[in-house]
Amino acid sequence: MSIFIDSSDLKHIKAALDLGWVKGVTTNPTLINQSELEAEEVLAAIKLLTAGPVFYQLVSETFGQMLDEAQRAQQILENRLVVKLPPNDLGFKACSHLSSKTTCCPTAIYSPAQALIARECGAQFIAVYVNRATRLMGDGIQLVRDITRVLEGSKTELLAASLKSPEEALEAFTAGAQHLTLPHETLIQMSGHDLSAEAIRQFKVQGTGLSGIEAID
Ligand code: E4P
Repeated sequence: MSIFIDSSDLKHIKAALDLGWVKGVTTNPTLINQSELEAEEVLAAIKLLTAGPVFYQLVSETFGQMLDEAQRAQQILENRLVVKLPPNDLGFKACSHLSSKTTCCPTAIYSPAQALIARECGAQFIAVYVNRATRLMGDGIQLVRDITRVLEGSKTELLAASLKSPEEALEAFTAGAQHLTLPHETLIQMSGHDLSAEAIRQFKVQGTGLSGIEAID
């Protein structure tokens, strides 16, 4: 299981990776567009921040251009690259072609049938858009459950994406998602709890520890 940050904001990415339990970075064209840097610069900067996977989504619209774009991303990210592909004829064709050499992740998955095709194409990951599926179709968590059954016994792993709260992330995980990608804010929310903070505050007021060690703040 891995937890990734879903962002192209270098400050957020660095802060998340510094937590120690965030293992890589997912991006998409919208997120990259929010950066003031060119996509190449964003990817190169992210590569310096993590030894983990970096997901880059192809924007090309022909098969040949997709392969070229994947190669350019590979030159920047080397073995860190995970190629995200659109789940359509072209994207699945490119996935079939690339997956023996490059880690592939069909993205924006909304149906078990798409998951089955991704599995047949040799994808390592599929990104299921949980919150968007709930908003647009009714139940993104049930979608995760259904897709989990489709992927059983295969090498294709379910990455729950488009997650908007710690609760939703937890539900996706317990429904079968093997990996989660979350915005920075949600990552931070996940590790804290008001009652934990209160308990720690009380220990600080009431307790003591090894001599010479300051109580935690
Ligand atoms: C995942 O890789 C995507 O970047 C992301 O989670 C998209 O979802 P959103 O646009 O609904 O946040």
